[in-house]
Amino acid sequence: MSLDLTARTALVTGASAGIGREIARVLARDVGTLVLVARREDRLRDLADELAAARPALRVIVRAADLIDRAATGAMVDDLEREGVVVDVLVNNAGFGDQGLFEATDWGKTERMLELNVVSATFLLHRLVPGMVARGRGAIMNVGSTAGMFPSPGLGVYSATKAYVNLLSEVLHAELADTGVTVTAVCPGPVPTEFQEVAGTTGKNPMPKAFHIDAAQCAEEAVRAMRAGDARVIPGAAVRATMVSVEAVPRPILRLVARTMARRLRRR
Ligand SMILES: NC(=O)c1ccc[n+]([C@@H]2O[C@H](COP(=O)([O-])OP(=O)(O)OC[C@H]3O[C@@H](n4cnc5c(N)ncnc54)[C@H](OP(=O)(O)O)[C@@H]3O)[C@@H](O)[C@H]2O)c1
Repeated sequence: MSLDLTARTALVTGASAGIGREIARVLARDVGTLVLVARREDRLRDLADELAAARPALRVIVRAADLIDRAATGAMVDDLEREGVVVDVLVNNAGFGDQGLFEATDWGKTERMLELNVVSATFLLHRLVPGMVARGRGAIMNVGSTAGMFPSPGLGVYSATKAYVNLLSEVLHAELADTGVTVTAVCPGPVPTEFQEVAGTTGKNPMPKAFHIDAAQCAEEAVRAMRAGDARVIPGAAVRATMVSVEAVPRPILRLVARTMARRLRRR
């Protein structure tokens, strides 16, 4: 059965660009209230204007916040609670990557990535899940990655953060099964967005172009899976078929492939 989003309040992190902005556009067709979160407030306001113009009944709330700042994130959730905004759909999407051999990466960027992709996403779950369980209803979408499904040389810490998101989502899907709260892990393959520029991976993704999908398709498939209460979705048929095969490959063979890829990176 598909989740009825009418009158629901959805909070989308990373709504100023890429996949998050497209997820906001999809949710805006049905939800009652949409809370848009990211650092670039001008982008969020432009999106809010666009969405409100397309559907005047929709209430759009903009919250500019750096999600790495725990105190600011906590204050944002407190403010929403004080204003009577009850979030029952959480889209944990904000995140970024970093490319490079581990020893060559910058600690500051690595720490920020861990803080955003892992700690901030977990913090928001920790703040919002108890209320959902108490009310007996809620939906969570955590944006992980196919990069978290196998060892990805050159994307070490990023892929490990996404393995965390993928696995925590599966655990919570099981733990919350009888509470009325669903949890869906979205595991995209390559989606051209600002992600590649931020991660330094532009032109370096080994996946052929045929595996790329756009952010709008990724968002449609992600929201469809969340509404169905699916544990996981890998958007895009080609990536999905490939990853199902990769998951069947014995781990020692995946490690050998990873070593070959790593040797190539080291020779560059
Ligand atoms: N694109 C891909 O190929 C791909 C593949 C697999 C998984 N993913 C995952 O999909 C998610 C969305 O990525 P994307 O491709 O849409 O990337 P994107 O276009 O770079 O968007 C990232 C979003 O995260 C927000 N963000 C970054 N740092 C933030 C911070 N400190 N506080 C608050 N918001 C922050 C950005 O907004 P501001 O800069 O305005 O704060 C932006 O809205 C990420 O979790 C990514 O790991 C992407």
